[in-house]
Order: sequence, then C-alpha cells, then structure tokens
Amino acid sequence: MSFKDKIVNEKLPQHIAIIMDGNGRWAKKNGKERYEGHYQGVETVHKIVEASAELGVKFLTLYAFSTENWHRPKEEVDALMHLFVETIEQELPTLNKNGIRLRAIGDIASMPQQNIDNLNETMAKTEHNNKMDLVLALSYSGRWEIMDAVKKILKDQQTNPISAGEITEELFSSYLNTAGIPDPELLIRTSGELRISNYLLWQIAYTELYITPKLWPEFDKEDLYEAIVDFQNRERRFGMTSDQIKR
Ligand code: IPE
Ligand code: IPE
Ligand code: MG
Repeated sequence: MSFKDKIVNEKLPQHIAIIMDGNGRWAKKNGKERYEGHYQGVETVHKIVEASAELGVKFLTLYAFSTENWHRPKEEVDALMHLFVETIEQELPTLNKNGIRLRAIGDIASMPQQNIDNLNETMAKTEHNNKMDLVLALSYSGRWEIMDAVKKILKDQQTNPISAGEITEELFSSYLNTAGIPDPELLIRTSGELRISNYLLWQIAYTELYITPKLWPEFDKEDLYEAIVDFQNRERRFGMTSDQIKR
C-alpha cells in the first residue's frame, strides 16, 4: 500500500518547505561529478513539484541556493546558475499545465542578470496560475531576510513613522520576502543533516521537522507521501498541553 492512500486530505499541510540536500554526496557515491548530482536533483524537483500540486498543497518552498553557497568553488556556482535558467525554462509548460505560480525569495538582485531576467519572465508567465505557489529560495538566507526586513522598516519610517508599540509579528512578517505566505507546517530535509542551514528562520518557529537520510536525487514521491503521513500523526501543541489540544 502506498503512503499516498494514508494521507488525510483534510489534514494536508498547506505549505511544505524543503531543504534539498545531498546532490554532491549522491554524485560521489555514483562516481560522478558534483554538477551531475545537481542535474539529477532537478529530476527530483520535477517529481516533487508535480506530486505536491497533485495532492493539493498550496505552497511549496524549495531551498535551491543559500547566501552561504556563494562561497563554493566558482565552477560549481556557475554550473548551478546555468542549471537554474535551463530548468526554469524547461519547466514552464509543466508549471502552466498544473496551475503553478512561480515565486522567488532571497537576494535575487545579487544573481547574474540572466537569472534575474529568466525569473522575472517565468514569474510573469505563471502569475495567473492559482493551484499552487512554487517558491524558490535563491541566494536566500533567513538572517539576510530578517535584516532586509529591518532595513525596509527603517526606510519606511522616514515617510510613514510608526511607534515601537505598532511593531507586531504581523507587521514584521509583512516586511519579509514571504509576506502573504502562511508559515510552513512541515519542513523536510534530505541527506540526514540535523541542521537548518539558515533557512526560513522566522517562519519555522512552530514547523514540524522531518529529516530523512535519503539524498535529494534519491528522494521520490513515495518519500514525500511518507513525510506527510508522519506529519499527520504528530500532535502539534503550540506550547499548550495535550488535553487542551484534544478538547
Ligand atoms: C544540495 O546539495 C544543493 C545545493 C546546496 C545547491 P549539496 O550540493 O549541498 O550536496 P552535498 O551536501 O555536498 O552532498
Ligand atoms: C543548504 O544546504 C542549502 C541548500 C539546500 C540550498 P548546504 O549543503 O548548503 O548546507 P550545509 O552547508 O551542509 O549546512
Ligand atoms: Mg549540502
């Protein structure tokens, strides 16, 4: 029996965030170059995006490139930037066929111009789709995003002053790149690393974490279903007692 049959539709997470990790180790294990691991990783992206949309997940946020990833060897960074352009172009028909809107979070302005143009073009061509939002975290880090929000608040302060008391969680969230996107209920990390690596620091305050030893190129639809079933069997207490939740 597939884990898919065990998914309770009424309890489907609206927003799943994924740290797609392990492409390099997959390549090494298979006697390939690191970039080949990234190419194989794109196959997984295709499958997981499709499976998420099919299930009815509303937001899927994929960590594709972190602020810290700029420190990798230049050849690898260049190969990844090239791969992003190629993949986004290739995936356009699939995005439109499945009603998926592309969005991006992160310091997009720091990316090569070709990536910026490609993202803007694809976001415009998918902006009317409304089945699922695919959010790519590119040149992204949680600390960068929080600092960026603080800077924007201070800038707005010059034209539209607000008092300290007016700064609420809602207001602060509206200055983040993820404004309007609900916090993820489920965060999946592949390749077994027990860390967050600067991902969605503000948004994952109460997110359920699911870490699998599978490397990203080996992760498949069934693994996604298994993660969702695991999530659905947890008790989310948000600081309260179990009795309070059950009432
Ligand atoms: C994840 O795979 C992809 C990116 C960070 C871009 P890695 O490239 O980090 O793979 P490992 O961790 O070296 O196996
Ligand atoms: C996190 O993976 C970033 C992405 C998946 C894009 P890394 O491979 O960069 O994370 P660390 O360095 O092992 O923490
Ligand atoms: Mg890694």
